[in-house]
Amino acid sequence: MNILHASSEVFPYSKTGGLADATGALARAQAKAGHNITLVTPLYRGIREECHSLEILSEAELPSKVWKVEPEPNLTVLFIDEPELFDRDCLYGHNDDAERFIFFSKCVAQLAKRVDIVHAHDWHTALTMPLLSLGQTQIGKVFTVHNAAYQGRFEKDKFALTNLPDSFFNWQQMEFHNDLNLLKGGVVFADLVTTVSPRYARELLTAEYGCGLESIFQAKASALTGILNGVDYSEWNTTYNPHLTAPYSIDSLGGKAMNKLALQREIGLEEQPNVPLFGNISRFAEQKGIDVLLSAMEQLLADRVEFQFAGLGSGDALLEQAMSTLAKRHPGQITVRVGYDTGLAHRIEAGSDFFVMPSRFEPCGLNQLYSLRYGAVPIVHATGGLDDSVNDLFEGENKATGIKFTDCTPDGLGQAIGRALELYANPVRLDRVRKNGMRADFSWRQTTANYDKLYESIN
Ligand code: ADP
Ligand code: GLC
Repeated sequence: MNILHASSEVFPYSKTGGLADATGALARAQAKAGHNITLVTPLYRGIREECHSLEILSEAELPSKVWKVEPEPNLTVLFIDEPELFDRDCLYGHNDDAERFIFFSKCVAQLAKRVDIVHAHDWHTALTMPLLSLGQTQIGKVFTVHNAAYQGRFEKDKFALTNLPDSFFNWQQMEFHNDLNLLKGGVVFADLVTTVSPRYARELLTAEYGCGLESIFQAKASALTGILNGVDYSEWNTTYNPHLTAPYSIDSLGGKAMNKLALQREIGLEEQPNVPLFGNISRFAEQKGIDVLLSAMEQLLADRVEFQFAGLGSGDALLEQAMSTLAKRHPGQITVRVGYDTGLAHRIEAGSDFFVMPSRFEPCGLNQLYSLRYGAVPIVHATGGLDDSVNDLFEGENKATGIKFTDCTPDGLGQAIGRALELYANPVRLDRVRKNGMRADFSWRQTTANYDKLYESIN
């Protein structure tokens, strides 16, 4: 099939979070499976310098330049080059984000010729769905919601930028409390809507998780599917990984201990092989429950529990400050690096004994999948993709891969950490659980097969 994906970020060209990993890896996996894949994304600052083989796409009749690269067979990546909109330091958070991504989506719709499926991801590209609904085309429209909390909601005067008929601005389509809501338009006009885990697909139908759009998701329920993201194991592995100190695998776990010591040395934790080390890598946002983590750690410290913590993240300034302050008060025991560092992200996964994810909600979550492969036993709030991908200790020694908690509060997390400490004190059991996780297979093969079935249903 000829499939055109549109995403505002794509690994390895641009990334702020899991969207980049998911769209980059899905496109590569589908290309490997024999589909003809085009992936459209903005040309942000730095991409041209990094990517030497870009060529101008001559046939594009667009208001901006389009660059293309073919990184592997069956895969073409197109970059929309509009410097005034995209040649900036940060990908998002600008006053003109409506203009930027409405423009981008219009370019994508214009590029969608001779394809069977247009598959758009998140609010930044959602407008392609209503735009394509205007033409008399046979193109199948698929829209994936990676996170319903980000909706591309703007004042209604921005609707004029979309070039859609005024009649589309109504409460059943693109209007939301008198504002323009791009995500809503994507959901309403897509032939099929997917999200990134089966449980999150169910959660979206509820007021607790639907972020105000639950009735829209309910109306679309028969066309809504949850497909768990996969992992690109060529990127996220422990055997051939330039970011790590020593390779290791399920058959030779010795390297994991070396990575733990190297991590402790790198980030200034005391070099203690036998103190349990907890890791976390996050956007510092309400979603990720960093406040819950902070309070749970305060309690552990008050109880004089022996543990170490390695954190990496950035985002909300108050959370950055609170995390840094806690680390400064406990040098050698708690380290928090504020910033974005891919290499350190790999080393935290490899060096940690446990990986903590107290997300209030988590559509899929990739870090717990990476943790499983890296032998860092995940401790997760039982929500969304976290619940779908981790098996709790209660499931028995043959199945257990991690620890789940249902009450996303400092106490709930504290109790889960208590269970982790008990597990750590029992090396034989810990080894079993760790190896169950390392053996788990979340490769994209299964995921692409699920998407194939969906595409076929509308083609
Ligand atoms: P989300 O997309 O909601 O942020 P995911 O778990 O799906 O959450 O994906 C997060 C991705 O971003 C992972 O690849 C993670 O390693 C990466 N990441 C998040 N914060 C950082 C950071 N500060 N430095 C490096 N990588 C990060
Ligand atoms: C979003 C979600 C995250 C998911 C990622 C990739 O950023 O917050 O849970 O893993 O998209 O689909």
